[in-house]
Amino acid sequence: MPAITNIEDLRVLAKRRVPRMFYDYADSGSWTESTYRANEDDFNRILFRQRVAVNMEGRSTRTTMVGQPTNMPVAIAPTGLTGMQHADGEILAARAAKAFGIPFTLSTMSICSIEDVAKGTDNHPFWFQLYVMRDRGFIERLIDRAKAANCSALVVTLDLQILGQRHKDIKNGLSAPPKLTVANMLNLMTKPQWCLGMLGTPRRQFGNIVGHVKGVENMGSLSEWTAKQFDPRLSWADVEWIKQRWGGKLILKGIQDVEDARLAVDSGADALIVSNHGGRQLDGAPSSISALPEIVEAVGRRIEVHMDGGIRSGQHVLKAVALGARGTYIGRAMLYGLGAMGQAGVEKALEIIRNELDLSMAFCGRTDITQVDKSILLPGTYPTGRAAGY
Ligand code: GLV
Repeated sequence: MPAITNIEDLRVLAKRRVPRMFYDYADSGSWTESTYRANEDDFNRILFRQRVAVNMEGRSTRTTMVGQPTNMPVAIAPTGLTGMQHADGEILAARAAKAFGIPFTLSTMSICSIEDVAKGTDNHPFWFQLYVMRDRGFIERLIDRAKAANCSALVVTLDLQILGQRHKDIKNGLSAPPKLTVANMLNLMTKPQWCLGMLGTPRRQFGNIVGHVKGVENMGSLSEWTAKQFDPRLSWADVEWIKQRWGGKLILKGIQDVEDARLAVDSGADALIVSNHGGRQLDGAPSSISALPEIVEAVGRRIEVHMDGGIRSGQHVLKAVALGARGTYIGRAMLYGLGAMGQAGVEKALEIIRNELDLSMAFCGRTDITQVDKSILLPGTYPTGRAAGY
């Protein structure tokens, strides 16, 4: 096998190894996928200022996110069905994050449960992402389970009261586990390693839900569950209630608009994540990196601003930090690594991103990530607070 040197190599390998419906689930956006593409493309339009003859020794990418130390400004994003990219995927990704000293965020819609991940990482603290569902009793139990598992931050997703339409998932009949149709069987026959892994684990369903909600003994489809159970009436009053019940670090995910960013500050949350859900919800919304500066300008002195969407390299992390993000999240970059090579693949993805971040920071004449600001970027090439075009 040729050497893996970038995230794209991992994506190509994951595409070969992961059944089509799960690969497509990760590697797609909603409707025309324009926002999904813009997330990455807009990063690539931003240019760095190279500096020379600056002492590059003793570099550090260490910082904090919500007051917690991290070895780089990168956390693992919550992603649904991670344990379908590779058997026991959430446990493996959490172990990789632990080895790298960065936060891991477990999705409500994970395959491995909160308890599985706690046990699989010897109770290392991780972050838990919460979807707000109609059944408030279930939400209370999820919050209590996250506390019992030593979770050190709660990430509440605000941009998925309803699901954006993803054409590929509908066409593929996405479900966990996959239904044994002729088309699926033929595809699974070409993925022997994946099948062996899945036969060797009991975790093949939505672990936080199946067996924890009365009457739900098997639940195949994410889209059906979302339509029935996610609460379309979600409001800031719910955020307040969740904050009280949780009592720990609170991060609000899915902010795109300055008005909403101000409401996030008023809610008393510790951080917000500028995010369009990886281009999976409102297609036609701006890329995350172009939405970031205006939000940083409006609320950055009162709340930590994080971002996700489109990060496929350490250079993207550096650009986001330069534009005011305290931290970033990787979803697909992690999933490609996981699908390609399990835990070793996630570690590879993190190593690639850390190296790219470290070296690019040095080329810009900086040695400490906490001292990076937009002076490392070429004026006129990056989005600013006010301007629509740049
Ligand atoms: C969330 O779980 C998603 O599929 O985007």
